[in-house]
Parts: sequence; structure tokens; C-alpha cells
Amino acid sequence: MTAETSVSAISVSDTPIRPRRVAFDWENTPVHWIPGDAPSTHLINVLHLLLPAGEKWFVHVYKQALPLITDDKLREDVRGFMGQESVHSYSHAAVLDHLRDQGIDTRGYTKRLDWFFFDFLGDKPLIPMPALEWLKLRLSIIAAVEHFTALLGKWVLDNEELDILGADPMMMDLLRWHGAEEVEHRSVAFDLYQHLGGTWGRYPRRVEGMVFTAPALLGLWQIGASYLMRHDPSIPDRRYTFRDMRRAARQDRVPSYLMLIGAIPRYFKPSYHPEGEASTQKAIDYLATSPAALEAERRAAARRDKLSA
Ligand SMILES: [Fe+2]
Ligand SMILES: [Fe+2]
Repeated sequence: MTAETSVSAISVSDTPIRPRRVAFDWENTPVHWIPGDAPSTHLINVLHLLLPAGEKWFVHVYKQALPLITDDKLREDVRGFMGQESVHSYSHAAVLDHLRDQGIDTRGYTKRLDWFFFDFLGDKPLIPMPALEWLKLRLSIIAAVEHFTALLGKWVLDNEELDILGADPMMMDLLRWHGAEEVEHRSVAFDLYQHLGGTWGRYPRRVEGMVFTAPALLGLWQIGASYLMRHDPSIPDRRYTFRDMRRAARQDRVPSYLMLIGAIPRYFKPSYHPEGEASTQKAIDYLATSPAALEAERRAAARRDKLSA
């Protein structure tokens, strides 16, 4: 396939990807929203640290890719993806204010993440290379990240253990609404990368993106969990250990590293496509019942009625 080849053949879903402008109220969410389990809570809370900067960076990079897209369907999907990721970013950022109200100041970590995304992976190439090649490399990194976000979305949609434990319903709705949209738009970043390709070959660049992304993501996750445990004033003598991660994964309270690492070889298959990684129907089914998504639909309908009146 050439860079200009239409992707419509591999974009299975015909449902337009569009943002749902959700809102959450964190006032009644306890600090350890997985009851009695600070390490599992903070392992998942790392998402609130990583995603505001990470997803803002996706949108920043995609603004540069948008004018290069020659396929109308893909352009619309990318616009919808950007809208969804923007809402994800600010929705998770709002949780950071709630953590600060509970005495957990995350700025020491999030400032470093801002540097990581907007300086280290910013618009100036890490090593000398043409700006277009640097853009394509960053597109391959985003495609690799989206392989993991689709898996995380699938995990949280399938998980029953957190409900059995009585995890905070507002937090579960945030995670499942976001997870469902990750599943819904799981093919967009990959299709975009395939569409624009790379002059050094599309496949090697794809592999390069994953080789960078997998250790970076898993490392940032561990560092984030450790940071949150150290800065949680309600557990002053408790430190995060890798054993916490193993225990929480075994109990199905957090996604396991084995599941995530085990998914990497699939990404390396030349025939890989994200469509086979999760069920869009399952995502749509959740979004049809999500309190936040339903409320967003109601507000959007009210706005439309007002405009047409
Ligand atoms: Fe997202
Ligand atoms: Fe995403």
C-alpha cells in the first residue's frame, strides 16, 4: 500500500468517532477509591498523571499531521480522535485537583511529564532528521501507545473484580467511559501511521515506535505509582513495591504487566491491525449506559434544540 492508499478498507466501523463532553463530580470520591487498597488505587491513579500531558501531546502532534491526510474518512476519524483525546485529557486533569485537595500534590511528577512530552518528544527532533521524518516517528509512537490504551480499555470494560470490591462508581465510570472510547477509536492512530508511512519503510518505523514506547510507558507507570504512594499523607510509612503490582494484578484489581507485555509480539506481526484487539460493540454497549456519557448526550441534545429553536 502506498502512503496515499485509502484506509477505508481497514476502517471497519462506520460509526463516526465523536467526542462526548462528559463531566464528573469528585467530591464524594474517597482517597483510596478501591476500598482498603492504596497500591491498587495509586497504580490506576497513574493514568490521571500520564494522560493529561500525553493525550494533549497526541492532539499537538496530530494537528501537524492533519494537513497531510489525503483520505476523507481517515481525516474525519482523526478529527474525532483528537476531540475524544482532548476530553480525556482534561477529564483526568480534573482528578489531579481532587488528589491535591486530599493532600497528594502531583506537580513534581507532572512537570517532568510535560518536559518528556513537549521537550524530549517536542517539535525539535531528538537526533538530526527532517521535520517530516520526526513527525512520522512520533506518529508511530502514538500508534504504539494506542495499542496499549485499547488493551487497557478492554480490561476495564471486562473487569468485574473492582465492582465486587465496591470501587467508587464515579471513578469506574470515568475509567470505563475513557476505556470504551479507547476501544472505539483503537484503529485511528494505526491507520494514520500506515497512511503517512515513512520514507525508511513503514514497518521498521512501526517497530521502532513500539521499541521506544513499551519500556517508556511501563517505566513511567512504575515511577508514577511509587510517587503517589510516597506523597499520600494517609499512608506515611507505606512505600510501593513491585510485589504490590504482582499482588494487585493477580487479584485482577489492575491490568497485569504480563498481559501488556504479552501483547507486544502481536503488534510486531506484519499483518497486525487493532481492529482484532477488542470489541467495538462492547464499548458502544457501555457508552449507552454510562451515566457521564448519557448526561453528555442529554446536554448536547439540549444545546442542539436551543440552536434550532
Ligand atoms: Fe484517551
Ligand atoms: Fe486513544
